[in-house]
Amino acid sequence: MSTLVYRFEEIAPRPLRPEVYELDGISRASVEAHYKLYEGYVAKRNEILRRLADVDLAAANQVFSELRALKVDLSFAIGGIKNHELYFGHLGGGGGDPEGAFGDLVSRHFGSAGAWRDDLKATGMAGRGWAWTAYDWDEGRLFNYVGDAQNTFPIWNATPLVALDVYEHAYFLDYQTDRASYIDAFFDNLDWSTVNDWVSKYQIQK
Ligand SMILES: [Fe+2]
Repeated sequence: MSTLVYRFEEIAPRPLRPEVYELDGISRASVEAHYKLYEGYVAKRNEILRRLADVDLAAANQVFSELRALKVDLSFAIGGIKNHELYFGHLGGGGGDPEGAFGDLVSRHFGSAGAWRDDLKATGMAGRGWAWTAYDWDEGRLFNYVGDAQNTFPIWNATPLVALDVYEHAYFLDYQTDRASYIDAFFDNLDWSTVNDWVSKYQIQK
């Protein structure tokens, strides 16, 4: 059996900042349950990378290829990690209209904060799992993209700056089926200083 030795480091879940447990309109119980799911994605990522070392590469083209299944699951787990680190990372602020460099980008590419917010909210209502505001390096502008799952449909060469989780697990405890009210609460808790740190870190020009 031919296998590949995968060299990888196990990763650990990033702890949440204390303010993420004290959001307006999104309960501590909801955040705690949500964080457990994020921990699950981290554990799954580590497990899949371990298991990949034992896969028979010669069988990779079989209809039910173990390699294919593991790699698809890996994209789901890693997507779940990245999406939730963005999501939890930029919650805990005072919300309101986008400020600073991100606010300037929004004004330039959407016309106004209200237009950006309306579009992202509608995208979140239409999606099954995620809506992201991302800077597309090829287009040189922001877009609001839709995602159905942790691994669908990110765009190559785009950097996400806002990640709105619209999976039911994000809001069912607090809002049952009222996703629109949850999305309003999400906007009310965004931390613009964090988003602007990302704009600066990635050197996105206004
Ligand atoms: Fe989630």
